[in-house]
Amino acid sequence: MFITFEGTEGSGKSLQARTLAERLRGRGHGVLLTHEPGGTPLGTELRRLLLDRDEIVIGSRAEALLMNASRAQLVDAVIRPALERGDVVVCDRFADSTLAYQGAGRGLDGHQLRSVISFATAGHGPDMTMLLDVPVEVGLARKHAQDEGNRFEAEALAFHERVRAAYRCLAEAEPERWYCFDGTKVAEQLADEIWAAVVARMGQDA
Ligand code: TYD
Repeated sequence: MFITFEGTEGSGKSLQARTLAERLRGRGHGVLLTHEPGGTPLGTELRRLLLDRDEIVIGSRAEALLMNASRAQLVDAVIRPALERGDVVVCDRFADSTLAYQGAGRGLDGHQLRSVISFATAGHGPDMTMLLDVPVEVGLARKHAQDEGNRFEAEALAFHERVRAAYRCLAEAEPERWYCFDGTKVAEQLADEIWAAVVARMGQDA
């Protein structure tokens, strides 16, 4: 079982990914919790470059390729081995982030991005994707209260609105994989709703 969390800035997905991983561990599952960009030594370097090195110009296509370089390494070194061991993999962002941010946000072609993603993931993709939907102003205000921001948080509101709309379209197009949650709810209630969805999907295995 491969479960991903997606959402705009400050949607609370990182906390929910951690909470789900803890609950699954509590039920005796082997769990691998990871995140993108990052999750490997190469990915950690790329994450720094992509998010924090404002002085380095990164064009949209280069950005898409670097996100996917991080992804390819994560799949080969971490995700695939974990799935082969029978672990549940919980990943904070995955390929849908590229479709939403580099596709809708930056305006890159969706078909081309899908072929880059297919190369990077070697066909590995999530069984369940949790979308935490929050109004972009709410999410950005949460983020600004937490940290000094990164390359993406600095983008205009219109960029984040495109990303949010893209997530909703992706979810509508593949309802059997996507589970949508109202990210403005309190964290404990959200965690219960997410857990209920996972238990329903995993059946007796949960
Ligand atoms: P994230 O780790 O969720 O940042 P935060 O510190 O806000 O939790 O994600 C880092 C940023 O990278 C986020 O703004 C979205 C962006 N991103 C892309 O643009 N494309 C991608 O493929 C991925 C994985 C992330």
